[in-house]
Amino acid sequence: EKAGFDHFMLKEIHEQPKAYRDTMRGRVSEDGKSVSLSELTTITPEELRKFNRVHIVACGTAMHAGMVGKTIIEQLARVPVETDVASEYRYRSPIITPETLVIVVSQSGETADTLAALREAKRNGARVLAITNVVGSSVAREADDVIITLAGPEIAVASTKAYTSQLIAFYLFGLHYAQVLDTKDEAFVSGVLAAMDSLPEQVEKILSQAEVIKKIAESISRHSNLFFIGRGLDYAVALEGSLKLKEISYIHSEAYAAGELKHGTLALIEEGIPVISLITQEDLQEKTLSNIKEVKARGADVFAIVNDGNEEEISKSVDSVFSIPRTLSLLTPALSVVPLQLLSYYASLALGHDVDKPRNLAKSVTVE
Ligand code: F6R
Repeated sequence: EKAGFDHFMLKEIHEQPKAYRDTMRGRVSEDGKSVSLSELTTITPEELRKFNRVHIVACGTAMHAGMVGKTIIEQLARVPVETDVASEYRYRSPIITPETLVIVVSQSGETADTLAALREAKRNGARVLAITNVVGSSVAREADDVIITLAGPEIAVASTKAYTSQLIAFYLFGLHYAQVLDTKDEAFVSGVLAAMDSLPEQVEKILSQAEVIKKIAESISRHSNLFFIGRGLDYAVALEGSLKLKEISYIHSEAYAAGELKHGTLALIEEGIPVISLITQEDLQEKTLSNIKEVKARGADVFAIVNDGNEEEISKSVDSVFSIPRTLSLLTPALSVVPLQLLSYYASLALGHDVDKPRNLAKSVTVE
C-alpha cells in the first residue's frame, strides 16, 4: 500500500501534485476566471461582507498553513486576520463577535484543542469555517461550513500533502472572498488561478531533483543544531520546515524571521552551523541577503532556496542553492515547502529513524 515507495511520507510527498489538482477541481469555473465554493451554504456572500475580522486557529503544521492563510486573506480580501495556536486561543479570552469569521484548520478534524477552540468561537456567536481533510470528522460536523481538502488519507505522522492542500484551500477561499468584496478584478483572479494550475507540474519538477536535496540532507544530518530563516511568507514556510525536521530527524532547529536574528539568536551562530534560508519573496530578497551576510561572517554554512533564474546571483552570497520554478510570490509556499519536506525525510532516513512513526508522537492528538 506504499505504492512502491519506501515510506508513507515519501509516497504522500509525491501525491501532492494530485492533491493540488483534486482540491482545485470543481471549485474553479470552466473558463478558469473565477472560484466558486458551493460548499459555503451558511457563510454566504452576504455573510462574508458582514465580517470585520478573521481568526485562524489550528495546531502544529495546520497552524503553519494558517499563517500562510493570514497573508493570503489579508492580501486578497484586505480583511484583518489573526492567527492563533488553538491551545492558546481557547484560554486567552479572544475578542470574538458575530462579525468574526473563525477558520479552523485540521487535517484529522479530531484535534482536541482545535475542536475546543471551534466550540468557544461558536459560543461567542462567531461563524466557523473548517478546512479539514476528513469528511464527517468532529470539526467538519460542528463547523458552519467546511472546505474539504482532497489530499486523500495521510498515514505518515509528519504532515505533508495535507499541509499543502490546506494552502490550496486558503488560496481558493482568499480568491472567493476577494470576488465577494470586489477587492480584486477578474483579470487578477484568473491570473492567480492560471498560476495555480501550473503548481502540480512545478511540484513534479522539484520532486525530480530529490537527489540534490538528499545530499544536502546527508550533510545536515551530521549536525545537532541548525537554523531556518526567511521573511514574509518565507518565514511561515521556515517554521514548517523546522517543525518537519525536528519531528522526524530529531535534529534541533529554530526558525527565525531573518530580521530577528540580530536581536539575540546571532549569538548562537558559529563556524559550520547550517542555516537554511528561504529567499523566494523577491521584494525582500536584499534584506534577507544582508542577514545572510551576518551569519556568513560568523562562519555559517548557508543553503538557500531561491526562485529559478536567481541561482547565479544568490550563489555569490551562499554556499549552496536549490531553485524552485517561478510562480507568483503569493503562491511560493506551495512550492518552497516541498524541498524542505524532502530535506527532513532524507535527514531522518540518513539517521536511521522511523520516518513514518517518529517517537513520542501520534497522528491525531485527541487529548489536550
Ligand atoms: C506535524 C503534524 C502536527 C499536526 C497537528 C494538528 O507534521 O502533523 O503538527 O499538524 O497535530 O493536527 P490536525 O491537522 O489533524 O489538527
